[in-house]
Amino acid sequence: MNSLVVYDSQFGNTEKIAQRVAETLAAYGSARAVRVSAVEPNAFDEIELLVVGCPTQAWNSTPAMKNFIAHLDNAKLNRLFFAEFDTRLDKPRWLTGSAASKLEKQLQRLHVTQLTAPASFLVTATEGPLAVGELERAADWAKELYDEFQVQMEPVVVPM
Ligand SMILES: Cc1cc2nc3c(=O)[nH]c(=O)nc-3n(C[C@H](O)[C@H](O)[C@H](O)COP(=O)(O)O)c2cc1C
Repeated sequence: MNSLVVYDSQFGNTEKIAQRVAETLAAYGSARAVRVSAVEPNAFDEIELLVVGCPTQAWNSTPAMKNFIAHLDNAKLNRLFFAEFDTRLDKPRWLTGSAASKLEKQLQRLHVTQLTAPASFLVTATEGPLAVGELERAADWAKELYDEFQVQMEPVVVPM
């Protein structure tokens, strides 16, 4: 499974999660994390999974990530699986909002195939650091993505 992790990050915390997700996915195929402002036009050519992640800002995803998704090439979307994550403050979800759920909604409007529910990783303050254990949780989430990909790719056996 070849993967691309596209992230936005103001203070570096989401970048750390993106890199851990990519490092973990690299066990199953090519995988790398690229900042949203640096994605090359041919970056999608060889991939099966596109993971997008950004910080939650004002209960929303970042303008750069929204813009990236809005300009995805429709012809390339159909053959990809998607997954979303965010970072947000370590407070109740109803207080913080979640960029990942906004990314999920934006992608749902494009009718793409999503592998799993969006994930949130917590920071202890606006500039970080990440809460204890979040990098390990990011690695676990990445493994779940691979497991779910395997399930999706299993051939469907039609009884005769
Ligand atoms: C302008 C701004 C708005 C923010 N709004 C929220 C918010 O609505 N909910 C939340 O949980 N965190 C909010 N935060 C905290 C960010 O989620 C936090 O800075 C981010 O997760 C850190 O990731 P980064 O280091 O990748 O930028 C906000 C931060 C900034 C700078």
